Amino acid sequence: TSSPEQEQFDRIIEQDSRIEPRDWMPDAYRKALTRQISQHAHSEIIGMQPEGNWISRAPSLKRKAILIAKVQDEAGHGLYLYSAAETLGTPRSVLNDQLLTGKAKYSSIFNYPARSWADVGAIGWLVDGAAIQNQVPLCRCSYGPYGRAMVRVCKEESFHQRQGWEILHSLANGTPAQKQMAQDAVNRFYGPALQMFGPPDGDSPNSQQSMQWKIKRFSNDELRQRFVDMIVPQAEALGLTLPDPDLRWNEERGHYDYGDLDWDEFKAVLSGNGPCNAQRMAHRIRAHEEGAWVREAAAAHARKQADVETK
Ligand code: ACO
Repeated sequence: TSSPEQEQFDRIIEQDSRIEPRDWMPDAYRKALTRQISQHAHSEIIGMQPEGNWISRAPSLKRKAILIAKVQDEAGHGLYLYSAAETLGTPRSVLNDQLLTGKAKYSSIFNYPARSWADVGAIGWLVDGAAIQNQVPLCRCSYGPYGRAMVRVCKEESFHQRQGWEILHSLANGTPAQKQMAQDAVNRFYGPALQMFGPPDGDSPNSQQSMQWKIKRFSNDELRQRFVDMIVPQAEALGLTLPDPDLRWNEERGHYDYGDLDWDEFKAVLSGNGPCNAQRMAHRIRAHEEGAWVREAAAAHARKQADVETK
């Protein structure tokens, strides 16, 4: 026995139409989306750190300008996504507190350090490549504001991936030392990038329900497989190898087989014990505290404007 509202909601999902902020929705749907969208927003904001570190050390003015643009895009994605999350009823200050107090997750990948300039290339190629693979289907998410936000985000991510590819391409075709630097970066980022898609389907508590609601359109393992299939020929084109001895084409499946990932490492990173978790959080908390005067000034300005309008 379901309510007329529930039936209307089910119909919208069934017809592949969209749920909008003012529509009735089950509490659990609202909660699942708030969780996913806010974690996604936090990931974009924390994700500015590994590459932001390289802005002052980029090897040329052109590289520096491109990297600044990319990191600014990520800030934009974060703000865009917080806005989408707020349409579900939780204020941004609350979402932000969840990040700063360690209650909310953000993507595991941003707890790894960017050690060399080649890492900026590997992050663009592999991390942003994985992000695109995961986010293109989210453009068709059943919740309107999230799906629409993803369209622009994916376009910008494509530019990010190309800049990463291009950095690696230059290094891979440079001196032997440069090529080695590119290979080291790929070796370090390959496994963690594959883990961005989340735990294997059998260990993914949210997937089934999220797929029924058409928040997610594909499972974690399906997207991971697509990603592996995409990057193998790209690695060959770069002249670099992927650090997985079990990686081989499976004629029968029509896909590349790949080896087990280190899920103990993944769990450690999620529970706060990755190589950079503490550093990332400390930096974010400091930035938030240092930005207090900006928030106060913006609020004072908004009050003044409101006064002017009511006079
Ligand atoms: N890093 C950190 N946490 C993760 C990761 C990861 N790579 N993968 C899964 N998790 C978390 C989930 O958030 C969930 O935690 P919670 O229930 O406490 O919130 C838990 O592990 C179990 O995973 P799933 O049941 O598989 O969770 P879900 O169905 O939400 O799938 C996924 C995870 C694929 C990341 C999904 O949330 C998603 O598509 N999110 C949007 C994309 C996104 O956030 N990208 C961020 C990185 S890309 C970028 O910012 C450039």
